[in-house]
Amino acid sequence: MKNIIIYLGLVVTIVALYGFAYTLGNKPDVDGKKIFLDNKCNMCHTIQSAGIESKKSDATDLSNVGKDRTEEFLMKFLKKETKINDKDHKFTFKGNDEELKVLVDWLLTLKTDK
Ligand code: HEC
Repeated sequence: MKNIIIYLGLVVTIVALYGFAYTLGNKPDVDGKKIFLDNKCNMCHTIQSAGIESKKSDATDLSNVGKDRTEEFLMKFLKKETKINDKDHKFTFKGNDEELKVLVDWLLTLKTDK
C-alpha cells in the first residue's frame, strides 16, 4: 500500500514538473510577441515570419534579426546604449528590463533563411 502511494506521488510530481517546463518553454514566445505589439514596435517594423505587418512602407523587417544580432547587442540597442551605423534607435522602450529581456529573447528566436 505504501509503495502505491509513493508511486502515485512520483507520477504526480513528474506530470507537474513536465507541465511547468512546458509552460516555461513556451512563455517567451507568446509574451515577447505581445510585448512587441503592446509597445507598438509594429508601427515601424514588419516581422513577416511572425505574421506582423507594419503599415509603414519602409518598415524594417525583423524576420531574421535573431541571426544577425546577439542578445547583448539588442538589449543595449533598444536601451539606446549602442548604435547602428552611428544612429540611435528611433524608439525608446518604455517597459522594464525584465520585459525587455523577454522581448529580446523572442527577437532572437526569429531566424528566417532567405
Ligand atoms: C518610430 C519607428 C520605430 C519604432 C516604433 C521602433 N523602431 Fe526599431 N528601428 C527603427 C529604425 C528606423 C531602425 C533602423 C533600421 C535600419 O536598420 O535601417 C530600427 C532598428 C531596429 C532593430 C535593429 C534591426 C537590425 O538592423 O538588426 C531592432 C532589433 C529593432 N529596431 C527593434 C524594435 C523594437 C523591439 C521596437 C519596439 C520596442 C522598435 N524597434 C520600435 C524604427 C523604429
